[in-house]
Amino acid sequence: MSTTYGTFPGARPRRLRTSPAMRRMVAETRLHPADLILPAFVREGISEPVPISAMPGVVQHTRETLRKAAVEALDAGVAGIMLFGVPEDAKKDGLGTAGTDPDGILQVAIRDVRDEVGDELVIMSDLCLDEFTDHGHCGVLDSAGRVDNDATLERYAEMAQVQADAGVHVVGPSGMMDGQVGVIRDALDQTGHEDVSVLAYTVKYASAFYGPFREAIGSSLQGDRKTYQQDPANVRESLRELSLDLAEGADMVMVKPALPYLDILAKVAEAVDVPVAAYQISGEYAMVEAAAANGWIDRDRAIMESLTGIKRAGANMILTYWATEVARQL
Ligand code: PBG
Repeated sequence: MSTTYGTFPGARPRRLRTSPAMRRMVAETRLHPADLILPAFVREGISEPVPISAMPGVVQHTRETLRKAAVEALDAGVAGIMLFGVPEDAKKDGLGTAGTDPDGILQVAIRDVRDEVGDELVIMSDLCLDEFTDHGHCGVLDSAGRVDNDATLERYAEMAQVQADAGVHVVGPSGMMDGQVGVIRDALDQTGHEDVSVLAYTVKYASAFYGPFREAIGSSLQGDRKTYQQDPANVRESLRELSLDLAEGADMVMVKPALPYLDILAKVAEAVDVPVAAYQISGEYAMVEAAAANGWIDRDRAIMESLTGIKRAGANMILTYWATEVARQL
């Protein structure tokens, strides 16, 4: 068929955009509440939730308000919740001891949420030391002050066990240590937790967009994470991390951040036969909220558009601080 008819176009893609009903029918990507996972922070020793100024609308929860947030997410149809524990400052140390204390805040929170929602909501936990170390790194340091990969793995193995003992369904190793997925899988299997899944933060870039997260977990990171998180310039490195994590037994893989790395997300989604998650991180959240607060952007449309883009690029699951709000709208 010719593409013109006389002086008129022969093909008119606009026909399929004529009404909301038509656009809805031909939409290739649909968001569903079950695509969404809510990341949530719970802080030890507070009686009221503490707002996170760099993430308007997000708080550090008390144990009580975390339970409520989990129920609200469940009622809205959200698939899962990813928990981050914020210990009292005095409990932070070089080894991140609070992270492996069976009564540490994250373990307590896992038990609370499990008690509240049972198996109705998939309960996930960040498996990383930065919330618990006084230096803010994701691992323990050697005598030269470098993050010690293999010493950190031993800490992660212990963390996996205590989080699983507390009742988590999925652990999310996010520290980018080499071999972390294998060590965690072994630790889970050896302690009778064969059914606990590993959602590997497989592709994780050293990103400026984690900025607001530091406030969320009350961390004052010394230095940066460039010796363990990936260089934003690289693609092949992500595919290598992916092969390694799959070989080590990752049940699901994650790409993080989301929006600046949609090309990577699309490649990962094409390459694997396991579910793929993307994390719309704190800085992505903050940018939209800040622009919206200034009247520079239509907040609700920007949120939906960014989530649609992440799903279109290939994510089966999206971690987003807007999960409950968006699930209610869908
Ligand atoms: C590490 C971890 C981080 C995030 C999730 N897990 C911080 C980092 O790696 O620097 C960031 C999440 C966000 O920015 O929303 N425990």
